[in-house]
Amino acid sequence: MSTSESNRRGVGRARAGANFALVKYWGKADARLNVPAVGSISITLDRLFTETTVELVPEARSDELTLNGVRRDEDVAKISACLDLLRRKAGVDTRARVGSRNNFPTGAGLASSASGFAALVRAGEAALGLELPPRERSIVARQGSGSAARSIFGGFVEMHAGSAADGNDSFAEPLLEGADWPLEVVIAVTAKGEKEIGSRSGMTRSATSSPYYEAWVREQPPDLAAARAAIRARDFAPLAELAEHNCLKMHAAALAARPPLVYWNGATVECLHAVRRLRAGGVPVFFTIDAGPQLKAVCAPGARAAVELALRGVPGVLELLTSALGPGAELC
Ligand code: DP6
Repeated sequence: MSTSESNRRGVGRARAGANFALVKYWGKADARLNVPAVGSISITLDRLFTETTVELVPEARSDELTLNGVRRDEDVAKISACLDLLRRKAGVDTRARVGSRNNFPTGAGLASSASGFAALVRAGEAALGLELPPRERSIVARQGSGSAARSIFGGFVEMHAGSAADGNDSFAEPLLEGADWPLEVVIAVTAKGEKEIGSRSGMTRSATSSPYYEAWVREQPPDLAAARAAIRARDFAPLAELAEHNCLKMHAAALAARPPLVYWNGATVECLHAVRRLRAGGVPVFFTIDAGPQLKAVCAPGARAAVELALRGVPGVLELLTSALGPGAELC
């Protein structure tokens, strides 16, 4: 199907890449508007993506969601809330049938909510005949899932926490095109299946019970400034050091929550050591880990083969996924 055929009146179809953060989002300033407590910086991937079709159904009384071919009634409220923001902008009240497919494991700490809500917003807009400015698009996506605001854009992306009461200065924007610094990613999948504690409840638990949460939030601005500078200068070594520090700091806050949030398994830790060994041996690579047991290794151009070889040999690694940096959410 061509883009114009698939995006006819009342139907929108879009693709969005997963992203993961090099400087993490962990914690909320406003749960209702889903405003993050901290800014974040991420990379958008090209090989892991969600494709979503939104079709307006005038006779339907509620929205309907199918994810990877399975009806997900339990997730309809979240997508309806996001579609409502678009319906309000379009002055339309029609319900929609949403079909979404991830080409990678769902809910296992691989950013499926990021690509999912970014694709939903882009496709929903098209179905409703809207064409929002990208910043506004990211504000809508943020209200579905904070990290989704970043998947609206490709390459290196910064999300601003903002401070306005209405959340309108809490948006993402591009920092650097992926083509300007073509890093690659190797993801070591160390467990399959949906994670036990999602990031949303993990954040709440960290904020309410971790003695390190306040320090985590306080230290974020200098981390963001350092990462921004390293990305603009395309300087791998300081970005590597900073991203690992920021990731471990987020996990330190989570580990110290009550009950504790231990997102890692043994293979995650072995992979972390393997990446550190590689870098000590001169291979330009660093790791990051989100709210799940998968390890993401970020490679400077040319380093991917050595990283794949090393991670493939780590016991407990089930599969390796590789990706370059990709574009933002687009119609397809
Ligand atoms: C650990 O965007 O999934 O991946 O806004 O509640 O939907 P909600 O949270 P979500 O959190 C992502 C957390 C993270 C870090 C990151 O992606 O920055």
